[in-house]
Amino acid sequence: PSNSTWSQRFESALHPTIAHFNASIDFDIALLEHDLTGSQAHAQMLGKTGIISAAESEQLVQGLETIRTEYRQGQFQPGVEAEDVHFAVERRLTELVGDVGKKLHTARSRNDQVGTDVRLYLRDQIEQIRQHIRAFQQALLTLAEAHVETLIPGYTHLQRAQPLSLAHHLLAYFEMAQRDWERLGDVARRVNISPLGCGALAGTPFPIDRQFTAEKLGFASVYGNSLDGVSDRDFAIEFASAASLIMVHLSRLAEEVIFWASEEFRFVTLGDSCSTGSSIMPQKKNPDVPELVRGKTGRVFGHLQGLLVMMKGLPLAYNKDLQEDKEALFDTVRTVTGCLEAMTILLQEGLTFRPQRLTAAVSEDFSNATDVADYLAAKGVPFREAYNLVGKVVKTSLAANKLLKDLTLDEWQTLHPGFEADIYAAIAPAQVVAARNSEGGTGFDQVRLALKRSRQRLES
Ligand code: ARG
Repeated sequence: PSNSTWSQRFESALHPTIAHFNASIDFDIALLEHDLTGSQAHAQMLGKTGIISAAESEQLVQGLETIRTEYRQGQFQPGVEAEDVHFAVERRLTELVGDVGKKLHTARSRNDQVGTDVRLYLRDQIEQIRQHIRAFQQALLTLAEAHVETLIPGYTHLQRAQPLSLAHHLLAYFEMAQRDWERLGDVARRVNISPLGCGALAGTPFPIDRQFTAEKLGFASVYGNSLDGVSDRDFAIEFASAASLIMVHLSRLAEEVIFWASEEFRFVTLGDSCSTGSSIMPQKKNPDVPELVRGKTGRVFGHLQGLLVMMKGLPLAYNKDLQEDKEALFDTVRTVTGCLEAMTILLQEGLTFRPQRLTAAVSEDFSNATDVADYLAAKGVPFREAYNLVGKVVKTSLAANKLLKDLTLDEWQTLHPGFEADIYAAIAPAQVVAARNSEGGTGFDQVRLALKRSRQRLES
C-alpha cells in the first residue's frame, strides 16, 4: 500500500508500531484551535498577497472555521492515521472544500506552523496562570488582613527565632507570587514572537507578508532569522523555569501547612473539604492537598530538565526531538494550574489558624531574648556585650525552668543596673513584634503598610 501522507517518494506504509511511535495526534490535538487560527491567518495572507485568489482564501478560512465547529461539537476526532494535528486539519479541510484545501500549505512548513501553534497556546495559558496567581494572592491577602495581630513563632533553622505577625508570614508568600506573576509577564514577551513564514528552515520564495500574519495573530514581532525561528524553544524553557519557581513557592507553603497541622505544632486545623481520612486509622485527618502540591513539584522540575536536555545537542534547525516539547508543556500547564487552584481553595476554606495556640507558643519560649539585648543596647551597652549577658540569662533560666518574663526586677537589676520595670513590657510578645517597625519588618505598622501596598497591586 502506498503511504497516504507522504509524497510519492514513498512506496510502502509505515510499520504500524512506528506509526504510533511517530504520531503526536493523541496529545497535540490540544493545539487544534490554535492551529486553525494560525492557518486562517496564513490563508488570509495568501489571498492578500495574491499567492492564491481571494475566493480561494475565503474558502480556506471558511473550511477551517467549519472544522472548529465540528471540533467543538465533538465531531472532529482524528486518529493515528493523521499523524499530527496539522495533517489532520489539512486532510479534513480538503474533504470539506475540495482541492483548494491542498493550497493551504503553500509557502509554509509544519515547522513554522507548529512553532506558531505552541506559542499561541502558551500565550493563552500564561495569561490564565497569571489569573490563577492573582486568585492565590487574593486568598493570601484576605487571610493576612484577618491576622495582623495574630502572632506566630518565626523560625530560622526551624528553631524558634523571633515572633512574627502572622500576616507578615503570609505576605512573604504574596511577594513570591508577585514575582511569579511578573516573571510570567516577562516570559510572555518572548513567547509572543511569530515564527510563521520561516518556512521549513530557510524562508520561502513566495512573496509572503510575515508582518500581516503576525499582526492578525497578535504577535508583537517576528523572528528575524528563519533558522532560529523554527528551532527556538527558549521560550518553552523559560516558561518551564518560571513554572518551576511557582512550584517552589507553593511547595514551601505546602510544607509549612503540613507541619502546622501536625500534633507537634497544632497551629492550624484542617477543614473537611480539603483533607482526607485513613482507610484504617479512624482518628486521622491528612493534609493530602499540600502533600500533593509538594509531590507534584518534582514533575514540573523534571519537565524543565527534560526540555533543557532535549535542546542541548540539537543541530540547526528543526529536528523531530522538538515534538517532545508538547507533553512537557501541557503537563506543566496542567500541574501548575491545578496546584494554584488547590492551594487557593486550601487558603480560602481548608485551614483555620488557632490564635490561642499560637499565642501560647510565642509566650513560652526565648524568642524575646534579642529584645532584652536590644533593650540594653538602646541604653548604650555595646550590643555584643548585651548579647553575651543575655545568653547567660537564657542558660540559667533554662536550668531553673523559667522564662525571661519570670525573672524578678531584682534579678534583672543584679544582671545589669540598666534594667528597669519597663523590661517586662519590652519583652511581651506583641511588643516584640510591634517594635520591629523597620522598613519591611514585622512591626504592625509596617505590616499594615504592606497590606495596603499588596491590595493596591491586586487592584492595579
Ligand atoms: N508533530 C510535529 C511536532 O510536534 C510537527 C512538526 C513536524 N515537522 C517535521 N518536519 N517533521 O514537532
